[in-house]
Amino acid sequence: MSMQAVIFDLDGVLTDTAEGHYLSWKRLCDEAGIPFDRAMNEQLRGRRRADSLRLILGDRQVDEATFEAMLVRKNAYYHEYLATLTPEALLPGIPALLDALDAAGIPYAVGSASRNARRVLAQLGILERFAFVGDGNTVARAKPAPDLFLAIADALAVLPTGCVVVEDAHAGVEAALRGGFGVVGVGPVERVGAAHVVVPDTAALSLDVLQEASRRCQFA
Ligand code: G6P
Ligand code: MG
Repeated sequence: MSMQAVIFDLDGVLTDTAEGHYLSWKRLCDEAGIPFDRAMNEQLRGRRRADSLRLILGDRQVDEATFEAMLVRKNAYYHEYLATLTPEALLPGIPALLDALDAAGIPYAVGSASRNARRVLAQLGILERFAFVGDGNTVARAKPAPDLFLAIADALAVLPTGCVVVEDAHAGVEAALRGGFGVVGVGPVERVGAAHVVVPDTAALSLDVLQEASRRCQFA
């Protein structure tokens, strides 16, 4: 079976919003007197907003209302950052890859933990190109559960084995493997080494790389 569809993670694959998340969490934590640095931010890659805050708070106790208010405030800061996002924030190699998929007639979707996924895609000027957008509201269980990717494959009417997922997070690679998808990992081997094919950055992505992951998945 040739590759039928592709599912892209958003943050860290199509664009690098990690900096925006970092600045927003940092602002919130500075105001609340909670330590927060870039190393901590790395641990939040691919994690939902509430799960991220739980990790940041660690042993600190806050009541439910404060917790919710902190999430709202962080998202408001993140929206300020998103307002500055333009198509220039697409990562290297992504525009050419989407064009190649269009030329090959292969549909593609987004599978992201972010509830802002549609907003980010719109700012990047590529929202309409996606056959489906799965985001933080699509399923109940977050990555590393395979649910999000499985729901997207279902929506696209393709089998997981005919579909390739592109991910930059450890939890995302695990979710895709658990679901039976072909997986391309973007980033260091320590983070995404379990994927069928690993590339150091998005500039190295191509139709050939995606097809290689599809083959390795089907003949594994
Ligand atoms: C992505 C990012 C995470 C972020 C999550 C939720 O997975 O990698 O850093 O926490 O989305 O994003 P949201 O836009 O819903 O706060
Ligand atoms: Mg990601």
